[in-house]
Amino acid sequence: MARQGKVTVVGAGFYGSTTAQRLAEYDVFDTVVLTDIIEGRPEGLALDMNQSRPIEGFETRVVGRTTTPDGDGYEVIEGSDVVVVTAGFPRKPGMSRMDLLEKNAGIVRPVSETVAKFAPNAVVVVVTNPLDEMTALAQLATQFPRNRVMGQAGMLDTARFTHNVAEELAVPVSTVRTLTLGSHGDTMVPVPSRCTVNGRPLADLLPADKVDALVTRTRNGGAEVVGLLKTGSAFYAPSAAAARMARSVIDDSGTVLPVCAWVDGEYGISGVYLGVEAEIGRQGVRRVVENPLTDTELSGLKEAAEAVRTKQADVSSL
Ligand SMILES: NC(=O)c1ccc[n+]([C@@H]2O[C@H](COP(=O)([O-])OP(=O)(O)OC[C@H]3O[C@@H](n4cnc5c(N)ncnc54)[C@H](O)[C@@H]3O)[C@@H](O)[C@H]2O)c1
Repeated sequence: MARQGKVTVVGAGFYGSTTAQRLAEYDVFDTVVLTDIIEGRPEGLALDMNQSRPIEGFETRVVGRTTTPDGDGYEVIEGSDVVVVTAGFPRKPGMSRMDLLEKNAGIVRPVSETVAKFAPNAVVVVVTNPLDEMTALAQLATQFPRNRVMGQAGMLDTARFTHNVAEELAVPVSTVRTLTLGSHGDTMVPVPSRCTVNGRPLADLLPADKVDALVTRTRNGGAEVVGLLKTGSAFYAPSAAAARMARSVIDDSGTVLPVCAWVDGEYGISGVYLGVEAEIGRQGVRRVVENPLTDTELSGLKEAAEAVRTKQADVSSL
């Protein structure tokens, strides 16, 4: 099997280490690099993952490297095709994602600047929260073309919506299609008109109040996990989403995924990073894919754009 490319995951916490493991187990990359500022953690995790290769049957090598906040050790990421940025603090119970803004901006800005220096041709996938703002900040700090910086949120929110529908109707997740757009937060926009079960509209299968309850649970999906874990936030479903995005880049697959992408005129919205469907390939976002929305869904998306626009404008000062 032909393996290709190098993918780096910055931040070897719960999200980053699980992402690195998934990327390695795909067995499609030459190298997966995992970095963190905690001395020895990325090296230890990489060794541990490499030792799982004979059992899981993959050849991709995982390289761990401790870096410093001012960039020592970053030579290891040179030549990366994709860089997934997970460095930053997760939420604790009672916190909103926006409570992380200043602390995580102080991490994401220098990380992004260093990534730009050592991996100038990479596609960057941001996952650090608050997601929409950190994606905008990463683009500013890297100065990469906007198509080469995107954020992960929509795939996760959509997966949570799908899971919730499947649980409610006791059907396999594979029979359910859902979609969420908008921001990764209060203005997440579930798109009921694109929700089906075995091809049948969700609205034919569940009364409106039940659909609303599923939408609310989806919107609070991250907080539900945080409330149970108490010490951090979700990482299994989030890492699955980020790893799929990185894989779509390296495969140049053209897969259409819900991601946080730069919107420039689509849906009548311009100049903002927002959760939309986009075709993903080697250059990151090939194009934003505009699909029909109901009037309510479209106004929800426009509201979400306005809500994140001001906050994204503020990140330039962070
Ligand atoms: N976008 C999403 O859908 C989504 C979902 C879940 C979590 N998240 C976010 O992902 C981030 C990571 O979550 P986690 O659960 O892995 O947290 P974690 O605390 O387990 O890991 C974060 C890691 O980042 C490292 N780090 C800090 N500064 C660094 C730097 N300058 N360079 C390299 N590494 C650095 C820390 O040492 C730590 O190991 C959080 O901001 C969380 O809110 C996003």
